[in-house]
Amino acid sequence: MRKLIIEGGHLLKGSIRISGAKNSAVALIPASVLCDEKVTIANVPDITDRTALSEILEYLGAKVDVKENNIEIDSSQLINKEIPENISKKLRASYYFMGALLGKYKKVEMYFPGGCSIGTRPINFTLNGFKALGAKVKEKNNKYIIEAKKLKGSNIYLDFPSVGATINIILAAVRAEGETIIENAAREPEIVNVATFLNNMGAKIIGAGTSEIKIKGVSKLGSCFHEVIPDRIEAGTYIIAAAIAGKKVKIENIIPEHLESLILKLKEIGVKIEIGADYCVISKPNKYKKTNIKTQGYPGFPTDLQQPITSLLTQCYGINIVEETIYENRFKNIEFLNKMGANIEIQGQKILIKGPSKLKGESVFATDLRAGASLILAGLMAEGTTTIENIEHILRGYENIVEKLSDLGAKIKIE
Ligand code: EPU
Repeated sequence: MRKLIIEGGHLLKGSIRISGAKNSAVALIPASVLCDEKVTIANVPDITDRTALSEILEYLGAKVDVKENNIEIDSSQLINKEIPENISKKLRASYYFMGALLGKYKKVEMYFPGGCSIGTRPINFTLNGFKALGAKVKEKNNKYIIEAKKLKGSNIYLDFPSVGATINIILAAVRAEGETIIENAAREPEIVNVATFLNNMGAKIIGAGTSEIKIKGVSKLGSCFHEVIPDRIEAGTYIIAAAIAGKKVKIENIIPEHLESLILKLKEIGVKIEIGADYCVISKPNKYKKTNIKTQGYPGFPTDLQQPITSLLTQCYGINIVEETIYENRFKNIEFLNKMGANIEIQGQKILIKGPSKLKGESVFATDLRAGASLILAGLMAEGTTTIENIEHILRGYENIVEKLSDLGAKIKIE
């Protein structure tokens, strides 16, 4: 098994370029099957989640041509067959094939998706949405058979603004008969990116990015070229790295508006940030002030940056409180941060971080993607060497993370 080795205490300088958004790309790739012709998606990050989704497409008979960060997908010869469990459980986003295949063929057979173990992550809102469109859902031993004679537009209210349910329902509704309205939809930028992709193919979606999305069904979707937006979570992770150990680190290719909650929190604790049109420049302060954070759906503070920012909060004076409201089990990094010398207490869905703490290098374990990012950030400031095991999770979601951090002057390698 590969490990990440980080020698802490080095100043980060220079600039890095942010890649395309994982959580956008992993929906765009399955969404491409809705098209009857070839589509090109640009700026797709080279992460293992991309490989896993391409594998599903190829298994179904689509032609996938990857040239660096561009992917050409031709689904015209696709065969709509069961997606086996061993490939669907590799990642959460495999379940976007549910919406896409149901939307196109009115039938899909696949298993419960995988993904980071950060909560139970049920798919009931998605399934209820499919049912509202007229589909029947059968489930046995984790296998789902979802089919409809025809899909008909409907009004759907989501009990929670779920990203996955919002995208999956859009995918199923774009080729349905009539109009679908999703109320209490998730507003994440990745949803806007997916809706734009579908509209580029000829879909009629309005309101993506707000909590009411309207989809007028169309009978056919055609060829298009589309670009993945910059990854706000990857950007946030490097911004935090620079806030921990940076001197005038320039983070390029960002959409600052997507990072507003993080930027405002960092300013509150004293981090120096200069914002440009599509970049920001970050320096660590001499002293960090404490803050409190509560995760929320966009535009609230993203749950995906909760674990990374916790590492920084170990350096703030006083007691910082972080509340996780999206997932029940997203504090698995805490055991390892404490092993490295942090003083963090878990109280239900909240953590109390008493700082500042001097961190020291340790042997730790990446339980999930963002927990892994949190440990890398801790390793950058720790005294001595940090060894992170189980790094496959990290490589699922961060393109060239070792190269990017090395370019900034970090001492990090994979062994
Ligand atoms: N939920 C339900 N029922 C559902 C759907 C969701 O109870 O049918 C609950 C979930 O259990 C969770 C909450 O609602 O507690 C939010 O789930 P959501 O559907 O919004 O999340 P997701 O679509 O499974 C995506 C990202 C996550 C990110 C969330 C933010 C992908 C592949 N994953 O997950 O990304 O945390 O949205 O809400 O896009 C990551 O990148 O590290 C990551 C976990």
